[in-house]
Amino acid sequence: MTRVAGKVAFVTGAARGQGRSHVVELARNGADIIAFDLCADVETNHYALATAEDLAETAALVRAEGRRVVAAKVDVRDRVGLEAALAAAVDELGRLDIVVANAGICPLGDDVPVQGFVDAFDVDFVGVVNTIHTAIAHIGDGGSIIATGSLAALMPGGLTSPGGTGYGLAKRMIPEYVRTVAHLLAARGIRANTIHPSNCNTDMLQSPPMYKMFRDDLENPTLDDVKEGFASMHAIPTPWVEPSDISNAVLYLASDESRYLTGQALRIDAGAGLILGL
Ligand SMILES: NC(=O)c1ccc[n+]([C@@H]2O[C@H](COP(=O)([O-])OP(=O)(O)OC[C@H]3O[C@@H](n4cnc5c(N)ncnc54)[C@H](O)[C@@H]3O)[C@@H](O)[C@H]2O)c1
Repeated sequence: MTRVAGKVAFVTGAARGQGRSHVVELARNGADIIAFDLCADVETNHYALATAEDLAETAALVRAEGRRVVAAKVDVRDRVGLEAALAAAVDELGRLDIVVANAGICPLGDDVPVQGFVDAFDVDFVGVVNTIHTAIAHIGDGGSIIATGSLAALMPGGLTSPGGTGYGLAKRMIPEYVRTVAHLLAARGIRANTIHPSNCNTDMLQSPPMYKMFRDDLENPTLDDVKEGFASMHAIPTPWVEPSDISNAVLYLASDESRYLTGQALRIDAGAGLILGL
């Protein structure tokens, strides 16, 4: 398990869900870890985000893999705070090779005000830009940058409601931004790619606002009510992919195995793109 041995990986949104899964997979394969998370809620986002306890648990999982970790409560919207925290972490761990801009919110719901658009776009696009631009000052030659997009970026019509619109716009802009970064950094062997997950089995998906988006006809839809709708998006029969399915791709893109793969957007979508004609 040494596919990223000797490297240092920086992951945002690392306290739980896909971010935690990426961190553990990268640590298991030999990387030391910089794990940042907001560890607080966003008012327009009507499901709870991760806590300080979640981030501490992520850090403990990295140590259990025998790797070093710097974990900190950092908001990706705060460029100045991000710069200070990343500089301190890189100083401690000695280098930076891998960046996974994963933090995200999805403030769905017809009752979410326009501030939901602002919050979604600020976290999901500005936060990705802040993360990557901050990391560019530290990342070494041959490094790898990975941004988490979403299948939602590729769906015709996109999402409705202010928060959903902000989410969709942010996720649509990520691949174009990442391709530009990839082009600019290619001469140094630094690669930049986007991953587009479909429904992924995390708290973001398993949340009342998400259930309501799939079953607006019901007052309080449950998982049983939405499972069929989730599955109908996919050609391969499953309602969702697991965080580990995304982490497997992150590990490949982070490792030197993909050293000539850059500027690409990879869907991990159980064939949803086949149904959508993508
Ligand atoms: N779950 C899905 O169905 C799905 C599908 C496609 C894309 N995605 C994307 O995957 C990424 C990971 O989400 P997830 O599914 O693991 O959900 P999640 O809610 O479990 O994880 C998101 C993490 O980001 C953190 N975060 C939120 N705002 C932050 C901020 N301002 N600064 C730092 N950290 C912040 C949260 O605390 C949380 O730990 C997101 O970018 C999301 O948009 C998710």
